[in-house]
Order: sequence, then structure tokens, then C-alpha cells
Amino acid sequence: MHFTIKRLKMINSRISVGLLLGIALLTTISCQPEKKKRSLNFPKTDLSSENMIPKPLKVIATEGGFALDRYTAIRTATTETGFVDVGIFLAEKINLKTGLDVPVNKGVSADEEGVIYIDRADSLELNAPEAYTLTITADSVLLSSNTAAGAFRGAQTLRQIISETSNDTLAAYKVWTIPTGKIIDGPNFEYRGAMLDVARHFFSVADVKKYIDLLAYYKYNVLHLHLSDDQGWRIEIKSWPKLTEIGGSTEVGGEAGGFYTQNDFKDLVTYAAKHHITIVPEIDMPGHTNAASVSYPILNGNGKTPQLYEGTHVGFSTFDTRKDTVYAFIDDVVREITAISPGPYFHIGGDESHVTKKNDYIYFVEKVEKIVQKHGKKMIGWDEIGQADIDSTSTAQFWNSKEYADRAVKKGMKIIMSPAKKTYMDMQYDTLSKYGLHWAAYIPVDTAYVWTPEEYEGIPMANILGIEAPLWSETISTIDELEYLAFPRAIGYSELSWTPKENRDWEGYKVRLANQAPFLDRMDVKYYPSPLIDWKKSKYSYEEIKKD
Ligand code: ACM
Repeated sequence: MHFTIKRLKMINSRISVGLLLGIALLTTISCQPEKKKRSLNFPKTDLSSENMIPKPLKVIATEGGFALDRYTAIRTATTETGFVDVGIFLAEKINLKTGLDVPVNKGVSADEEGVIYIDRADSLELNAPEAYTLTITADSVLLSSNTAAGAFRGAQTLRQIISETSNDTLAAYKVWTIPTGKIIDGPNFEYRGAMLDVARHFFSVADVKKYIDLLAYYKYNVLHLHLSDDQGWRIEIKSWPKLTEIGGSTEVGGEAGGFYTQNDFKDLVTYAAKHHITIVPEIDMPGHTNAASVSYPILNGNGKTPQLYEGTHVGFSTFDTRKDTVYAFIDDVVREITAISPGPYFHIGGDESHVTKKNDYIYFVEKVEKIVQKHGKKMIGWDEIGQADIDSTSTAQFWNSKEYADRAVKKGMKIIMSPAKKTYMDMQYDTLSKYGLHWAAYIPVDTAYVWTPEEYEGIPMANILGIEAPLWSETISTIDELEYLAFPRAIGYSELSWTPKENRDWEGYKVRLANQAPFLDRMDVKYYPSPLIDWKKSKYSYEEIKKD
């Protein structure tokens, strides 16, 4: 079935971008509609059956398509911070998908047809900080939000609804379609995170940037980096240099280790910020501290001489929680890391401190909370911190103990939902999985998606800050292995954290997930091709796409 798209050419349109909201679609005002330049027969497109993940709140389809082609331009609000950057980002991504060079905020050219406007607007529909609307007609695309973050999220949606292939038979040049209609969208949870363990195995800045690229496409807004553990210390601390000289030299399995200089870390923070993703740094303590204690044995509290460790056991290390030097050390570490972490949170770990006496553990968490607060951040810790007498501004990450999570809720704390049985991406898919563990569960792609974080284990919705999918790295050391465990499950967690439960269903999700294959292939993602999904095979392999 085909239908005709009519296009009007806008000549010398001198409307300021700020005024465009509301009038952008009225081609009679300030524009001189010319007789349609061309009528194109497009295959039928339907916005409501597009394969968007996470699924938007509301999609209203109309009959028609916007032609994305060599005449398309992007125009953005120029006085509002961040909107131009969203336009440039979108143009780069359109270029990667289509090869088109879409100009951003260039002077109006006589050839210009079909504008993508990215504008700031206040409206009830856009009440939440990351909410946006997309209004697509045959003549224009209008992406509106009252924040650059919202516009950025909307830009991801737009990327997802540009046709995978161009239709070369319609015109003398290539034309991609965007189905017309309206999308009104915003997130269910404000915190939508992934965690990467760079301590058990180190991952390079380039690897982490690629992970950020992928997470951003699915509207994640947090990347939590697990920067220290028994097997390695991964961030330069200038006042305690042996942490990386000694503690950064090892990783699981005897490989070479590694660490981020503070400049590397700043580079990651900046890169993440460009993708409207906040980095949450974690220094795990008082347990999981062997690498720190080998570097500075004065920190050690387990009564043994610490040695570099490349195994995978947990729970044998602890700081000496009754020593002033330990808190002076932590003050320096938190000060140096928070100085280069613009986000609101500092994660203190706090899990599996099996050789720390309970009273010492509680004393430690309470003291460290004050240090984190002194440096202007809110504390996050794994659910064990619920045992301590801490502030309602601190957040517990529910991974294992409902009892501790409940205690955190009673204190008025917020909870990040990361139950190991559901969200741990290092759990194997099934018994045949190449990488991963299964101490919590096997987590096939459907199990990862078909559960309700809003109602999980009776944690009240009002206390749930959001969802985070951790990826521990005992069994993985390369980006390909990372991708095998994270994808496709990370895609499902993005929908669990963005889309309300009323809008989620496995059967619909399965189809939309199958259609992520061309994007994943284009990005050279070595995802696990779960047999539960009828993957839409790409026409080309990544190598062929690159050659093209
Ligand atoms: C954890 O998995 N030890 C938080």
C-alpha cells in the first residue's frame, strides 16, 4: 500500500526559532508556500508500529511520512544551553545512519525543505525534566522539551524511527522516511542506571565510551563505575599514589590491570555529560578493599598481611574502622574524586564486609556518610548500609537483602532497584552461556524483562529512585564479552525504568527488540543472539557497512 506525501517548500523563512513553537506547522505564516516540488510515493509508514525502545508514553500516528534527504536541515533554539549540542549530536547520528550531511543552524538556503526543529517549550505535557514531545508532519519535525536533557532523549527516539534503509526509487537521490504523528513522552523513574565493574577487569576509556553510546541510545541517564575492589584500584588519587601504582597493577586471572588517570576520568565524565549521563563513582569499603590495603597496609583491618589478589572470592578484606588514618585517607579519596565528579552522588559500596564486626561496620558507614556529605554529595551504598543510622538523603541499592532495603525505606531513604536475581547482567542467560556466573539465577532475556520493579518485594513506589543493571566483570575482560552479557538485557532494563508497567508487555517488546538488530550490527555490538527472539537480520555485517 502506498500513499502520497505532499511537501511544501518554505522560502526565506525568517522565523526565529524561539517563536516556532505553535507556528512551525502553519506554512501560511511568514512562509511562502510554493507549489509542491515533488510528490513521493512512500511505502506506508505507521508511527505506532515503530520499534521504539523504551516504548514512549503516548504515540498518535497520522497517515504520512517526513522525507529525510539531502534537503533536510536542523534548526535549534540558540539561546538555551544545550539545545545546539543536541542538534549537532542528532546530525552526527543521522550521518552515521544515512550518510546525509544535515546542516545545523546554517543560513536558510533556497533548497532547504523539511526542517527538524529542536526547541525549548514549557507546557503541561513537558512537566518532567526529561519529558519531550515530537510532532512530525510531512513538512517538519518539531522536537520540544523544556530541558536540553529532554530534547536529547527525544533525539534518541527520532534516531530510532528513521527508516533503516533509503528508498532510492522515489527520487534521483536517497530518501529516508520518518512516519508522521505525535509522541508525548517522559520517564517513569528519574534514575535509570547501568553499573560497570572496572575493578575485577579493567576496561579502557574507549570501551566505556562505547558503552555510553549504547546506553544513551536507550535513554539511560546514569553510569555507575565500580572503581575499586579486592583485585584492583582503578582511579588515580594524587595524594595516595601507590593505590594505582600497586593496587592498579592486577586484575582477575593475572592480567595486566590498569587505571584511569584523573584526566581520563574527567574525559569520561565529559563524554557522559554530552550524552546526558551522570557518572556515579564507587569506592567500595570497608570490605572489598584488598587492593587499597596492599598499597597502604596501614589501612588494613583483617589482621593479615595483605597480598595482591587475582582470584574471585569475596568478603575477606576490611579497612580498620577504628583508625583515624583510615578516615583521613577516605576524606582525601572522596575529596579528589568528588572534585572531578559533577553528579550529585558518591557510592561507598558497603557490601559483603564479612570480616568487619557489625558494630564497626555501622560506625564506619555513619562516619563515611558525613565525609561524603561534607564534600557536597549524597551517599549511595549497597543495601547493607540500611543497618546504619543514616540520613534520608542517602540511597540504598537493593541487590540482595529485603530486610536491609526495608530498613532503609523506614528511614525515608530512596532505593535503587538492582535485585541480583533480576538485574545482574553478569548472570548467565542459561547453562550454555559463554560468560557469566549463576549464583543468583540464570537470567534469560524474558526473565530480565518480565517483572515489575514498581511492585518488587513490597518496596513502596514512592521510595524507588529508579533501576540499575550491574555488570560485574569476574568472567569478562574485553568489550565483546561485556557486550555479550549486557546486550540485549540492558535494552530491556531501559524500558523497565522508562516505561510505566501499563505500557509494557513481553510479546510487543520481543518484536521491538528483534528489530534492534540492525542498530546493534551497525554499532558492531557482539550481543547474545537469544533464541527467544526472532532477530531481524541486517542486510550487511558491520564490516560491510563500514566498507559501504
Ligand atoms: C554485590 O553484588 N556484592 C553488591
